Amino acid sequence: MKKIAVFASGFGSNFEAIIEAIENQTLKAEIVLLVSDKPNCYALERAHQHCIETFTFNPKEYQSKKEYEVLIAQQLEKKEVSLIVLAGYMRLIGDILLEKYSNKIINIHPALLPAFPGTHAIEKAYEYGVKIFGITIHYVDAGIDTGNIIEQTCFKIKENETLEEVERRVHTLEHQSYPIIIEKVLNQLV
Ligand code: GRF
Repeated sequence: MKKIAVFASGFGSNFEAIIEAIENQTLKAEIVLLVSDKPNCYALERAHQHCIETFTFNPKEYQSKKEYEVLIAQQLEKKEVSLIVLAGYMRLIGDILLEKYSNKIINIHPALLPAFPGTHAIEKAYEYGVKIFGITIHYVDAGIDTGNIIEQTCFKIKENETLEEVERRVHTLEHQSYPIIIEKVLNQLV
C-alpha cells in the first residue's frame, strides 16, 4: 500500500474526500500523516476523528522555512511517504522538500491555471466574468501554482448562477477528481 502525507491549513474538505475514497477503496493508499501549519484548523480535527497521525508546527517559531521543513522531512522519511498531497496548504514549499520529493508533491487549485493563481481564485474568476470554471491538479514547484499540470476539469457557468453556487460546484469537482488523480499519480511512481 502506497503511503501518502496530506498537507492542509484549513477546512480540509479535500482531505476528507481523500479519506472517503480510501475507505471506499477507490483510492488504494494510506494516509500516514497530516501536516499542518495551523494548529487550530478543522483539517486537524478531521485527522483526529479518523485516527490519522498529525504533525503541526507554527512557522513563526522558526528562523526559516528550511528549519521547519527539515523537521517535516524527518517525519515523512520515518513514515516512508511516497507522495505529498497538498490540500489547501497555504504555504510555498521550499528547497528542502522540493529536492527530497522531486515530482512527488502535488496540489489542487480551484481554477484553470495559469489563470487565477493564488488565493480567492474562484471569486476572482467570477468577478472577471469567466464562463468556464474548473480545477487544476499539478505538480508543485517553487512558484505559486506554477508546476506542471497533471489534469484539469471544467464546467460552464449557468445563467444567473451565484458565486456561492459556483463555489459549491468547483469544490464538488475537486472532491471527485483529486482522489482519482492521486491514484493515477501513485500508479505512475517508480
Ligand atoms: C481548495 O479549493 C483547494 O483547491 C485550494 O484550497 C481549498 C482548500 O479547501 N488549494 P479545503 O480545505 O480542502 O476544504
